[in-house]
Amino acid sequence: MDAMKAILGRRSIRKFTGETIPDTDIKKLLEAAMAAPSACNQQPWHFVVAKDKKTHEKVMEIQPYTKMLEKASVAVFVCADPELQTCPGFWVQDITAATENLLLAVHAMGYGATWCGLYPNDDPVWKVKELLGLPKQVMPLNVIAIGVPDEEKPPSNRYNEDRVHYEKW
Ligand SMILES: Cc1cc2nc3c(=O)[nH]c(=O)nc-3n(C[C@H](O)[C@H](O)[C@H](O)COP(=O)(O)O)c2cc1C
Repeated sequence: MDAMKAILGRRSIRKFTGETIPDTDIKKLLEAAMAAPSACNQQPWHFVVAKDKKTHEKVMEIQPYTKMLEKASVAVFVCADPELQTCPGFWVQDITAATENLLLAVHAMGYGATWCGLYPNDDPVWKVKELLGLPKQVMPLNVIAIGVPDEEKPPSNRYNEDRVHYEKW
C-alpha cells in the first residue's frame, strides 16, 4: 500500500471478526514497529505479544476502554525500558514512534487496530506490569488491540490550516 494512503486511511478499528492472525504477519508488524526512529537510535522498546484471551479479559478489567479486545486476535503491549537509553529523556517519543509504525503496518496489511493508552495513568500501568510480569523498570505505554476488521471507516481529513505556522507563530 502507498504510504500516504496508509497514513490517511488508518483509523481506530474496534470491531473484529475474531479470526486469528498468522505469527508470520505478527512478526512483520513488529519489524515495522522496530523500524521506527529513536533518539540516538537507542531503541528502548520491548513488545509483549499476548494471544491468550484470559490476558485480554484481565486487561479489559484493568482499563475499561479496551473492550474491543473481546474479539481481537492479539494484544501487543508496547513497553519502554528506560535503562536502554543512551540519550536519556526521549523514551516516550521513541515508543510513540514505534507504536504509530505498528498501527500503519496493521492497516497496510489489511488488519485493524486500536491504540489503548496505559501510561501515564499509574493504576493501569502497575496492574499491567504485574499481569505481564514485567521487570521493575519496564513501563507499558499502551496496548494495541489487533484483529481482522469487522467494520470499515472512511479516511480521516484533519488537516487544519489554523495549526500551521510558517517561519514564526
Ligand atoms: C495515547 C492514545 C490513547 C488512546 N487510548 C484509547 C483507548 O483507551 N481506547 C480506545 O478505544 N481508543 C483509544 N485511542 C484511540 C483514539 O480514540 C483515536 O485515535 C482517536 O479518536 C482518533 O480516531 P482514529 O484513530 O480513528 O483516527 C487512543 C489514542 C491515543 C493516541
